[in-house]
Amino acid sequence: MDLGISGRVALVAGGSAGMGKAAAMALAGEGAAVFLSARGEARLVAAAAEIAAATGGSVTPVVADHATAAGRAALAAACPRADILVISVSPPAAVEDFRAIGEADWLGSVASGLVGPVELIRHYSEGMAERRWGRIVSIATVAAKYPSEMRLLSGPARSALVNYCAAVGRRLARDNVAINCLLPGMVATDGLERTLSALAGKNGLDRAGAEALFAKQMRIPARRVGEADEVGKVIAMLCSDFAGYVVGQSLVVDGGMTTSLF
Ligand SMILES: NC(=O)c1ccc[n+]([C@@H]2O[C@H](COP(=O)([O-])OP(=O)(O)OC[C@H]3O[C@@H](n4cnc5c(N)ncnc54)[C@H](OP(=O)(O)O)[C@@H]3O)[C@@H](O)[C@H]2O)c1
Repeated sequence: MDLGISGRVALVAGGSAGMGKAAAMALAGEGAAVFLSARGEARLVAAAAEIAAATGGSVTPVVADHATAAGRAALAAACPRADILVISVSPPAAVEDFRAIGEADWLGSVASGLVGPVELIRHYSEGMAERRWGRIVSIATVAAKYPSEMRLLSGPARSALVNYCAAVGRRLARDNVAINCLLPGMVATDGLERTLSALAGKNGLDRAGAEALFAKQMRIPARRVGEADEVGKVIAMLCSDFAGYVVGQSLVVDGGMTTSLF
């Protein structure tokens, strides 16, 4: 299927690894000209080269920490206009005891999980609205919808982000700017691979055995973890020309792990 985005400019903020990188690969494969950002330069440059080689597309790396005002300014200077904006960050640290979370932890969580994405949306949506075409996807987490103590540095900030995207998405729908969130469950990016590796070592299993055990422990009906590539393609679908009537939604992609009807 042609997503109708060939020639569009796509900024993937947080795109040198994981689901951001997979989304960038899918968007470049559809003919979008991609700007890719992250904090670490070496991995970013390598990811941009890999995506360009795999798709034949234009991929421009930009080193920028979008959790900071200075990083967002650098991003805006390098990529002044975007038709498509995908925003990702690294998974925050898991919490063992809520009493161990201090003020600095909360400020860090809110800066990367809420303020960074919100400020990018505020900045780039203006031009999208003027041109009457825009697609924005924030990669959040199922913990935005299903609270747990372990995910306190991840879920609350993203619940607020989902709220913001739903409100602003409704405001900008009239300008053909569609803003949505993607809430992933367990996806095999670097963090989860480390968990699977530890599980394999502890139980004398190979990677496939560890994945099966993990899926059983986590009660994932699909009986496997997600692949970044399949999530990246779903993100690209939400950035397609035909996604303009999908407004302010939060799409759970978790193999059925969570059980809400809507
Ligand atoms: N993987 C899962 O199973 C899972 C489950 C639920 C929710 N999620 C959520 O999904 C999102 C993506 O997870 P992932 O596993 O794909 O992450 P990942 O593999 O760690 O990739 C994160 C990407 O974002 C970049 N990044 C992080 N912070 C940044 C910042 N402040 N400014 C610019 N770039 C930044 C990283 O590069 P640099 O480090 O070089 O900046 C990297 O390219 C996270 O919000 C996570 O909480 C993931």
